[in-house]
Amino acid sequence: MADSKKSKAGKANPMWGGQFSIAPAELLAKINASVAFDKRLYRQDIRGSIAHANMLARQGIISRGDARAIVAGLQDILKDIEAERFIFSDALEDVHMNIESVLKNRIGEAGGRLHTARSRNDQVATDLRLYVRDALDALAAALAGLQAALLKRASEHAATIMPGFTHLQAAQPVTLGHHLLAYVEMFGRDRARARDARSRMNESPLGAAALAGTSFPIDRHFTAKELGFDAPMRNSIDAVSDRDFALEFLALAAICAVHMSRLAEEFVLWSSAPFSFIRFSDSWSTGSSIMPQKRNPDAAELVRGKAGRMSGNLMALLAVMKSLPLAYNKDMQEDKEPVFDSAENILLCVRAMAGMADDFNVAKERMARAAGEAYANATDLADWLTRELDMPFRKAHHVTARLVALAAKQEKRLEALTLTEMQSIEPGIRKEMFSVLAAADSVKSRRSFGGTAPDNVKKAIVEAKKRFGV
Ligand code: ARG
Repeated sequence: MADSKKSKAGKANPMWGGQFSIAPAELLAKINASVAFDKRLYRQDIRGSIAHANMLARQGIISRGDARAIVAGLQDILKDIEAERFIFSDALEDVHMNIESVLKNRIGEAGGRLHTARSRNDQVATDLRLYVRDALDALAAALAGLQAALLKRASEHAATIMPGFTHLQAAQPVTLGHHLLAYVEMFGRDRARARDARSRMNESPLGAAALAGTSFPIDRHFTAKELGFDAPMRNSIDAVSDRDFALEFLALAAICAVHMSRLAEEFVLWSSAPFSFIRFSDSWSTGSSIMPQKRNPDAAELVRGKAGRMSGNLMALLAVMKSLPLAYNKDMQEDKEPVFDSAENILLCVRAMAGMADDFNVAKERMARAAGEAYANATDLADWLTRELDMPFRKAHHVTARLVALAAKQEKRLEALTLTEMQSIEPGIRKEMFSVLAAADSVKSRRSFGGTAPDNVKKAIVEAKKRFGV
């Protein structure tokens, strides 16, 4: 395996190989090359280079004519890449050197002036920031769509009764609308996290050069403005060293994915035969190759699964960055695949969740029946004892537990006990107590701020639409 050890006969890298007489070992070239994935940054790279070239000309560092040739050449390359006519070469390592090398081949010497007062270190940091900024904006917009879909279903089901669960045991009746609004709040916070991260990361590393800044009279404020950044980053070493903006993106994507995984899990549970609370149409169901009866919620399962991978992406980059000495280290090239993977998958998941949220049919009666089972009205009875008989809640809890035990022994619901049976345990119980035991009355009574009463839910929907602008 001579090839794997020694340099292959061939020319040194034309972009940096001045002092090298031969090409890198094949395996070095292979481990070094990132273009297979970082070509996704071509748009950001070209945008950054155009801003840089224009700035160089404004500052008199290169001629106007050279800048014009560079900009026109870059625009042609952009067109070629979008038309899939551009050939990326692994030998040129990454997207930056591929574009610059082709530019030089096409426009000649002027192309060689583009990299004045710049390094790939500030270039890649700029490109990735632009990419993450777009990813944050796209995520925030998609989340608004998901919120809108959930709000629509919540208003259809503001008064639809379902069992609320704790420990996946029926706990107290709630409304489906209220349950869905819980997710509207979570996705609202995810949007806010994207907004926060965006404002913190929106500063330009461009012009930090390799790490120390440059002796050329560049104007970093100009390039920052051209690229839509609020300001240039203040410290050149920080500008090329940190990837906290990528970590924040991965963290908020992971949190959002975890939020979605919980709704996805509920879709899986609710659409299963034992629950039968909801049913997805054919558009959102898949069949089994062996079991003809199956209607599987594959998309929900995949959203649930992808949450694992997205938290893995966060862990991967945290581990890459940990203990890296300042400034740039090649380890940092490992930042890209997790970011691209999370950016692409989070969008896919948010859109799929919106599609599913829009799709499912609700088995209202089945849900309401489930809410009346499993003594989910026990708290209502305890509350009645506390309110009407002035019993300390702890005692009311105890009395109710004995009533539940009595009903359970006879395998019947609480409200199926006779008044006499009730009074055998608590003589103070009166006939009107039975009116709090129906699930519909239970939810209607939960009027406290943020509670599940249908009137609350209706108001909460109006308020949420306004607050979230959806
Ligand atoms: N492809 C590299 C990366 O993604 C670009 C920066 C290279 N800088 C360097 N000093 N070798 O990190």
